[in-house]
Amino acid sequence: MIRVLVADASERIRANLLRRLAAEEDITVCGTAADGEQALQEALHLVPDIAVLDAGLSGIDGVQTTEMLAEYAPQAGVILMSMESGSELFRRAMLAGAREVLQKPFAGDDLVAAIHRVHAFQARKRAAQAVRQPEHGGPTTPDGARRRDGRMITIVSGKGGVGKSIIATNLALVLNRPHPGSVVLVDLSLQFGDIAALLAMTPDGSIAEFAASDVAMTDRHVIQQALSLGPQGLTVLAAPPSPELADYVTTAHLRSLVAELRSTFELVVADTTSQLSEITLEALENSDHIVLVTDFSVTSVKNTRLIMSVIGVLQVDPERIVVVANHRDAPLAGGMDRARIEDFLRHPVAAEIPHDATAIGGSVSSGVPVVIGGHSSPATAAFERLASALTGDTGPESASEQPGKKRSRRRLGFARD
Ligand SMILES: Nc1ncnc2c1ncn2[C@@H]1O[C@H](COP(=O)(O)OP(=O)(O)OP(=O)(O)O)[C@@H](O)[C@H]1O
Ligand SMILES: [Mg+2]
Repeated sequence: MIRVLVADASERIRANLLRRLAAEEDITVCGTAADGEQALQEALHLVPDIAVLDAGLSGIDGVQTTEMLAEYAPQAGVILMSMESGSELFRRAMLAGAREVLQKPFAGDDLVAAIHRVHAFQARKRAAQAVRQPEHGGPTTPDGARRRDGRMITIVSGKGGVGKSIIATNLALVLNRPHPGSVVLVDLSLQFGDIAALLAMTPDGSIAEFAASDVAMTDRHVIQQALSLGPQGLTVLAAPPSPELADYVTTAHLRSLVAELRSTFELVVADTTSQLSEITLEALENSDHIVLVTDFSVTSVKNTRLIMSVIGVLQVDPERIVVVANHRDAPLAGGMDRARIEDFLRHPVAAEIPHDATAIGGSVSSGVPVVIGGHSSPATAAFERLASALTGDTGPESASEQPGKKRSRRRLGFARD
C-alpha cells in the first residue's frame, strides 16, 4: 500500500484528490495538510511514502517544504502541484528534491501515474542506499565502507499456520520504527512465502536473484537488485515468485546473504517455513534470537519441544530461544495455558499474543499489518512488548562459526553443503 500525504490550502482540492485516490487499491491517503508547516509535521508523524504538495502553500511554501522533507523525511517522494508552468519552477522544484511537478489542473490519472512512478523510484533509491551507504558508526571494511554488526532474529515453529508470518511482519515493522530503514525482513519461506502479500507489496526482486548468481557473485549489487521497499521504510527481501525457484537457493547463498545484510542493517528478521529445511537450520545457526512460535494446542507445543531439541543438537545456546504463544483465548485453542506450556517446554514463554480474528484476519485481507493499520487490537500491544523484549536484553553476541556445526547438522540428516 502506498501511503500518501496530500497538502493543499484549498479544502475543495484536497477533497477532490482524496476522492480520486480512494479509487486506487494500492494507494491510501494517510494524512492531509492545509499549509507547509502542517505538511511537515504530518510527514514526520505519519512517515508517508509520497507527499503531494501544492507549490503555493502558505507559510513555508511547497518548494521550501520539499526541501525540509528531503532533509527530515527523506523516505517521502515529493510530487509538487502548481498553477505555474515553465522551467523556473521546475528547476527550483527539482533542486529542492521533488521527483515530479504536475501543472494544475491535471487529470486524476496523471496524479496516480506520478505516484506510482515516484514510489518505484523511491524503492530503488532506498534499496540502493541501504546497500551502498551503511549508516555511520561500527567497524569498517578493508575497502573503507562502514560496517555494522546487525543482529538476526529468526521466526520458526514446529507446526505450520501458527502465525509465524503475522508475527514476523508486525515485529519487523515495530522494530523498524525508531530508525526507519534499519530493519530488513527476509522471507525464507522459500516456496510459499507470504510476506509480500501480508504487506500488500509487489516486490521489485526476490531472494531468487541469488539463485541465478554464483556465490562469489552474491555481492552488494546483486542484493541491491533484490531488495524492495515496504511500508514505513521497512526493507523486504521477498520469497521467489514461484515455488520451483526455491531449490536454487542454497545454504551457501544464505550465509553470504546474511553476512552482507548484517553489515548493512541493524536487524535482520527472517520468516521461515515449518519444515526443517537446511535453509531454516542455517538461519537458526546464524541467529542471535530464535522466536519459536506455538499456539496453545497440545500438538503444537509437542512439536515445539521437538524443535527445541533440534536446536539443542545444533549447539545453539538455549538462551537465544524466545518462545511466543500465539492465539491466546482463541475458541478451540486446544487446552494448554501458559503455565502448562512453560512446564512442558521447561522454558519461559516470553510473550502471549491474543487471538484477534477481526483485526488480524482483516489485516491479512487488507495487506496492512495491525501495528500500522490503526486498529485497536490488543495484539498490537503484544507485538510491541515482544519487540522490547527482543531489543531490551543484550542477548548473546552474533552467532559465529563453531566447530562441529556441520557434524551436528549431519546428525539431523542434512548432509548437503
Ligand atoms: N493472533 C492471531 N489472531 C487471529 N488470527 C491469527 C493470529 N495469528 C495468526 N492468525 C491467522 O492465522 C493465519 C496463519 O498465520 P500465518 O500465515 O502467520 O502462519 P504461519 O505460521 O506463517 O503459516 P505457514 O507455516 O503456512 O507459513 C493467518 O492468516 C491469520 O489470519
Ligand atoms: Mg508463513
